[in-house]
Amino acid sequence: MPSPIPAQTLRIEAARRESRNGHTGGVLWLTGLSGAGKSTLAFALEEHLFSSGYQVYVLDGDNLRRGLNADLGFTHEDRTENIRRAGQVAALFADAGLICIAAFISPYRSDRATAATNAKRFHEIYIRADLKTCERRDPKGLYKRAREGKIENFTAIDDVYEEPQHPALTVDTVALTIHESLGSLSDFVTKHFPLGRFVSSQE
Ligand code: ADX
Repeated sequence: MPSPIPAQTLRIEAARRESRNGHTGGVLWLTGLSGAGKSTLAFALEEHLFSSGYQVYVLDGDNLRRGLNADLGFTHEDRTENIRRAGQVAALFADAGLICIAAFISPYRSDRATAATNAKRFHEIYIRADLKTCERRDPKGLYKRAREGKIENFTAIDDVYEEPQHPALTVDTVALTIHESLGSLSDFVTKHFPLGRFVSSQE
């Protein structure tokens, strides 16, 4: 439904932000099972890119669920709303000129597709690890609790995870070390968001 509220025209166009930052803004959308390594890789990649001169920020599912999305649970409807909001925020960060690394299970294809259409330079990245491996890792003890029936609608236990069909990149965290996974992500960013010369607004 079209919004009845007219949009304000933004005053600082993307090219000015790009020339100051030395790169374009965009979204790296990390999807995968709980325990696949999304948060670990998102924060490691953020650290690496920040040190290399990128403007970068991580939106992480666990963190957003403590604030912006604190009212949401894990029903299908709530997850869709979670990803809708996260997708909107990621698009704003990209608009503001940053590389936004979004790390959410985001189990439903249609929700990820909506997020992709709302943001500029959106890249879906599949952080892949099979359920058996994620369950063995179980860093938060949640799989154990889900198996005991203490958590409902747990992804890949009693709720679905729809694998990406055409991800821009797949990082297989079963086959690769963290260092190798990070290398693959970093190469992807260098290719899609090449770092140019920083141009100050005084020049
Ligand atoms: S999403 O499905 O809506 O995209 P999101 O990435 O925000 O999920 O949050 C996932 C995190 O919530 C997991 O890493 C885990 O710590 C926690 N969690 C709690 N309950 C569940 C559940 N039922 N299914 C999946 N993750 C859960």
